[in-house]
Amino acid sequence: MPAPPTWLAPLLREEAPDVGDDVDAGRFDGLYGGLYDRVIQSRTLRRLAPLAYGDPGPLADLEGFAARVAASVRDGGVLLDVPSGGGTMLPLLAREGWRGRVVEADLGAAMLGRAADMAERVPELDVALLQADAQDLPLRDASVAAAVSLNGLHCIPDPRAFCSELGRVIEPGGRLWMITLVGGGTVRSEAVVAGARVFGIVPGPLPRREQLGAMLRDAGFGEVEWLGGDGLVGLVATVSS
Ligand SMILES: C[S@@+](CC[C@H](N)C(=O)[O-])C[C@H]1O[C@@H](n2cnc3c(N)ncnc32)[C@H](O)[C@@H]1O
Repeated sequence: MPAPPTWLAPLLREEAPDVGDDVDAGRFDGLYGGLYDRVIQSRTLRRLAPLAYGDPGPLADLEGFAARVAASVRDGGVLLDVPSGGGTMLPLLAREGWRGRVVEADLGAAMLGRAADMAERVPELDVALLQADAQDLPLRDASVAAAVSLNGLHCIPDPRAFCSELGRVIEPGGRLWMITLVGGGTVRSEAVVAGARVFGIVPGPLPRREQLGAMLRDAGFGEVEWLGGDGLVGLVATVSS
């Protein structure tokens, strides 16, 4: 793993939790993680998403989604990408002309290793890699200007804790951009969720859209703007000032 940039340390909590040596990011540290990266990082394969989910929301135009994320990061602010996986967002953000600082945070060592490779291929961005549990982030309160979470919440055992951490680390007025599976979607998306639960990719029952909205409001976000999708949904929410 490359040495962290000097700007990362001031963002970290003094009592930062240690993820330990025996961390387990489940399926993503095995072959499935590499396969997932291949699919999500291919524009052609992403086009097949409606077959699995019905309306896939902003995943149908991930480039457009990345453009909106990039435009929402204030000058000099840090963007948090969590869980970052293999760095899927990096080339999309750079393609939009964004040239800022981004923290790629993920629990999985293999996924972060691929994010490091991706960061090398996208030298336009200033990337810090951070091995962290999204349910207990080592970042200080209000330390990032905005956050993006692509296909993350449905892989995290405690979605409420994840939302609460996002509300804590994003500065007041900062935005959260999210794409996630929710419960109660289409017949197809429910079948995908059921299969993913059996396979151990989705660790627990998923909140329905309205339950996710309530979790975000409890975490300090204002109104949630839904960006489309049935079972796989997109949203943007702003931390209340
Ligand atoms: C479906 S992948 C999405 C990754 C990335 N956003 C993307 O779309 O390329 C889900 C990621 O969640 C990570 N993950 C699972 N549990 C986690 C946790 N508790 N904290 C942080 N990351 C976690 C996995 O390692 C995996 O990289």
